[in-house]
Amino acid sequence: MGWQETFEKIASELMKNPTHDFEHAKRVCSISIRLAREEHADEDVVKAAALLHDVGYSIDEKEHEGKSIEVAKSLLEMTDFPEEKKEKVIECIREHRFTKGEKARSLEAKILQDADRLDAIGAVGIARCFLWSGEHRKVLKEAIKHFNEKLLKLKDTMNTKGGRKMAEERHEFMLEFLEKLESERDETTPQTSATGPSYR
Ligand code: NI
Repeated sequence: MGWQETFEKIASELMKNPTHDFEHAKRVCSISIRLAREEHADEDVVKAAALLHDVGYSIDEKEHEGKSIEVAKSLLEMTDFPEEKKEKVIECIREHRFTKGEKARSLEAKILQDADRLDAIGAVGIARCFLWSGEHRKVLKEAIKHFNEKLLKLKDTMNTKGGRKMAEERHEFMLEFLEKLESERDETTPQTSATGPSYR
């Protein structure tokens, strides 16, 4: 079995979290490949890093990149993955995290960061936000807050030109969705403020 097949098999077995399932890894992988082609980056590195960047999530959500690195290291050793590229994969995984404010140094790490953030916005990002909120027992109001605190900021953190372009489209769609959501909530939520419309 080649390295890619092995990584896919292990990732699909380990990634059982609602928002960080194997489909997340596959989407991040295909966006990464697309960006790597545009940027002339190393495709093996981004592919391996994308498949493995969240394998530790189900084991330890808070420190998942550390767990992912542990698993990735042993998988990189077990397979025929090119020796000289292994450290670059680990670096990408270490630097991918938004919440920790990590700066990506290599082009491949920048691509993984962009791809991972792109999967947190747009239609898929909206779906994942509500999945995460349900999983953590958050009510609708709190889920909406997450858009302002994080998701609407991601567009401005893109590293690559292609990433920026995709992020802009996805950002627009989120704004449209939020507007519609707010208007429907306004219609059904009794207004208490003096300025809002009253239905009573
Ligand atoms: Ni991820």
